[in-house]
Amino acid sequence: MQHVFYKGTDETKPVLLLLHGTGGNEESLIGLAREIDETASILSVRGNVLENGMPRFFRRLAEGVFDMEDLIFRTKELYDFLSEAAQQHGFDRKQVVAIGYSNGANIAASLLFHYENALAGAILHHPMVPRRGIELPKLSSIPVFIGAGTNDPMCTAQESEDLGALLISAGANVTTKWFNFGHQLTMPEVVAAKEWYNNIYA
Ligand code: MLT
Repeated sequence: MQHVFYKGTDETKPVLLLLHGTGGNEESLIGLAREIDETASILSVRGNVLENGMPRFFRRLAEGVFDMEDLIFRTKELYDFLSEAAQQHGFDRKQVVAIGYSNGANIAASLLFHYENALAGAILHHPMVPRRGIELPKLSSIPVFIGAGTNDPMCTAQESEDLGALLISAGANVTTKWFNFGHQLTMPEVVAAKEWYNNIYA
């Protein structure tokens, strides 16, 4: 997959896997990652699907209606890519912590929903439930931060609540913080994510 990798100055830190929102690319979240941890390595990936020229991580049939077959295929593609990237760039595959926004948060959640050892942790900004009606793998104590919008028209409060509940029932350690800036990812949310991150990884 098209990506950039920046080696960090502190190899004890996680590798931050950046997953952009619809219309973003591998450069979109670099500034955000540096805010969270300027010493960690960064692996930032571009989604392989194009919607009217806008990169995404999987196809959708309509806003908020996912193409499940493609979601499953693309989740495996990203999962496999992470092992390849770990080999290519020489990082520890077990230390990957995702930071995703919107569509990128949804593919990160899908990694958690489909694979037991996909991620060591995740920061999900404005995610949805990627898929319903499946049994989740054991997510024993995997730390997950959800940045949710009380008034997000795309990723509704109910979606965020459902996602948190599903991850908790699979064993994940979920922290949800609420904001009222619609679908936007704003500085107070980044600060909350950084605080959560520092408690676990600093
Ligand atoms: C999605 O399609 O993943 C969600 O609707 C969020 C987005 O618009 O990217």
